[in-house]
Amino acid sequence: MKRSNAVFLALCVPTHALLRFQCAQLVIDRLDPLVTPGMAPSPHLHQILGGNSFNTTMDPTKDMPGESTCTSCSFSEDFSNYWTATLYFKAKNGTYKRVTQKPNAGFDGVNGGMTVYYMQDGLYNFNQVSKVTAFTPGFRMFIGDVNAKTKEEAERFRQLTFTCLQTIGTRDPQILDFPSEPCPAGIMTAVRFPTQASPTCWDGKNLDSPDHMAHMSYPETGSFESGGPCPATHPVRVPQLFYEVVWDTAPFNNRDDWPTDGSQPFVWSFGDATGYGNHGDYMFGWKDDALQRAMDSPCYVNCPTLKTQDVAAMNKCTIERRVDEDIDGWVTALPGGHQASYVKKRWD
Ligand SMILES: *[C@@H]1O[C@H](CO)[C@@H](O)[C@H](O)[C@H]1NC(C)=O
Ligand SMILES: *[C@@H]1O[C@H](CO)[C@@H](O)[C@H](O)[C@H]1NC(C)=O
Repeated sequence: MKRSNAVFLALCVPTHALLRFQCAQLVIDRLDPLVTPGMAPSPHLHQILGGNSFNTTMDPTKDMPGESTCTSCSFSEDFSNYWTATLYFKAKNGTYKRVTQKPNAGFDGVNGGMTVYYMQDGLYNFNQVSKVTAFTPGFRMFIGDVNAKTKEEAERFRQLTFTCLQTIGTRDPQILDFPSEPCPAGIMTAVRFPTQASPTCWDGKNLDSPDHMAHMSYPETGSFESGGPCPATHPVRVPQLFYEVVWDTAPFNNRDDWPTDGSQPFVWSFGDATGYGNHGDYMFGWKDDALQRAMDSPCYVNCPTLKTQDVAAMNKCTIERRVDEDIDGWVTALPGGHQASYVKKRWD
């Protein structure tokens, strides 16, 4: 028994890397330097994590590691910025209250934020052997469609999902819209870059593109998980980036506070009450070759080749909000003036 366990463990020692780490909240603000650079306020509210050089405008030539003095991520050489929309609860009287994020399993004590993964192969592949090339300074990308209102539109991005957490460890089923029943341990949203079934091929030239997605592509055949080859137009296989956000919806689980018309009460900060507009943003900002070094090392969650910092240091790295508005009271409109729309009823 002992012996076969040892053999099993030996076979499971990963050749390469899968990074899984938490980043605490840097700031909640109405800024979006990828989609609406220079605009303060941007159209909707975001939760933003990572290096504190984050700003209203993030030129691709900006030295994110050089200009940052701290990061809210546990790997302290990661000055990238990661962001998503935020969530609100809509009360029966029509006012909204922001839903905060809570730490994922294994990251107790971290102030909000989300879990970030960088993978060489699919999430459930414990070998992680495919060679990937780390992103280049200035690289950024987006995934999702804020205007998606239907399941069909959301299905272009099959891996932008919601999980109704029975416990913090629940991972299935994954659905494309807000759960229609209260979730005891919160709601997890997942965002996998760049598109659909997790293909991760870069054109090798453009740090960005007009829709912030076209410089990335699916593998030519198969999927990222099956190790499908990248097409000639997008020949560089990059890590799969993956976010998990745990929303602390439990304080809003009293059924008496839920709408009586069969709809659910949660709404994205841009007004989407279906959930189909789930999306995420990324700006690469790892110091020097740290990400490549990690992806070339036997790192599985823990990564000795990377420097780490403790939870107190992560939580301490925050920046001031630039846009002065009430984001945490019971507000009559979502920041930016949005109202909940495209409400989906349980019987739809
Ligand atoms: C953000 O940009 C403004 C205007 O360019 C600048 O004054 C400020 O120092 C920047 N903040 C950070 C944290 O880089
Ligand atoms: C609206 O409902 C919420 C939740 O019940 C409550 O906290 C808030 O005070 C109410 N606001 C008004 C203006 O009645």
